[in-house]
Amino acid sequence: MKIINSLKDGGEILKKNNISSYKIDCEILMSQTLNISREEVLLNLERNIKKEEKEEFFNLIYRRRKNEPIAYIINNKDFWRDKFIADKNVLIPRPDSEHLVEQTLRLIKKDQGKRILDVGVGSGCLSISILKERPFCKFDAIDPSKKAIKLAKTNAKLHQLSNRIKFYKRDVDNFYNDKYDLIISNPPYIIKHKIKYLDSINYEPKIALDGGLDGLEIIKKVISKSKYLLKTNGKLILEIGHDQKYKVTKFLKEKKFFINNIIKDYGNNTRCVVSTKIN
Ligand SMILES: C[S@@+](CC[C@H](N)C(=O)[O-])C[C@H]1O[C@@H](n2cnc3c(N)ncnc32)[C@H](O)[C@@H]1O
Repeated sequence: MKIINSLKDGGEILKKNNISSYKIDCEILMSQTLNISREEVLLNLERNIKKEEKEEFFNLIYRRRKNEPIAYIINNKDFWRDKFIADKNVLIPRPDSEHLVEQTLRLIKKDQGKRILDVGVGSGCLSISILKERPFCKFDAIDPSKKAIKLAKTNAKLHQLSNRIKFYKRDVDNFYNDKYDLIISNPPYIIKHKIKYLDSINYEPKIALDGGLDGLEIIKKVISKSKYLLKTNGKLILEIGHDQKYKVTKFLKEKKFFINNIIKDYGNNTRCVVSTKIN
């Protein structure tokens, strides 16, 4: 069977199952099957594929048909300037979280060596992206999920950063350590009863999404704990939900943080808050 015909048949299956990204998904899954780039797939549409390759391609299509995210099927996701291994134990790195990386980098000069804590490290995409851009910084990274810590360690090793990032399997409530110059966090912030409406709910780990009854449970814990873990004038950079700006900034002010910047994403939703611990 030719590549082009497999893509057409695969596309029909995904289209029937309301996968709107069916075209690009088929191309990605074909590139995964044949272990060539997507560009090479498109340049070789008339090439015949072997029976085993066809079987493998349609196995991947059937997984995608059930709404399994592409990143879990191909086991990786592009984020910032790199690729990260992703599996069902971690949240898939989101393009929106690149705002947090950008805002953190703005606060650190290239030659500065800051100590930074990542609360809820997940795949490690945030800390690793920042470490690659700031060669003198060091990270501690915590997550209560043992499997997330294991994957983040693998990503750190892959990017040759194991010596600049220390991992702790720990809930933010149970983490006590020295003072940090900066704390970053993309905590779970979805309201508990809304989680069931997410597309990827059957695949992504609930611990990465569940922000409790009001969506603010973990964010508030991170803010309260940052009060103790940050040096005076240390910065807290948080990713938040699009409708959490007022409640989060109010809580930050109550805890005596100064709000430096509130950043919107390209969809004009509030996405990130930069604040300073003033005393
Ligand atoms: C939204 S995910 C973010 C993952 C990664 N930092 C990213 O941006 O892709 C939130 C992460 O916080 C972790 N987490 C959940 N509850 C936590 C807690 N109480 N303390 C620290 N981390 C927590 C989850 O296991 C998950 O890995």
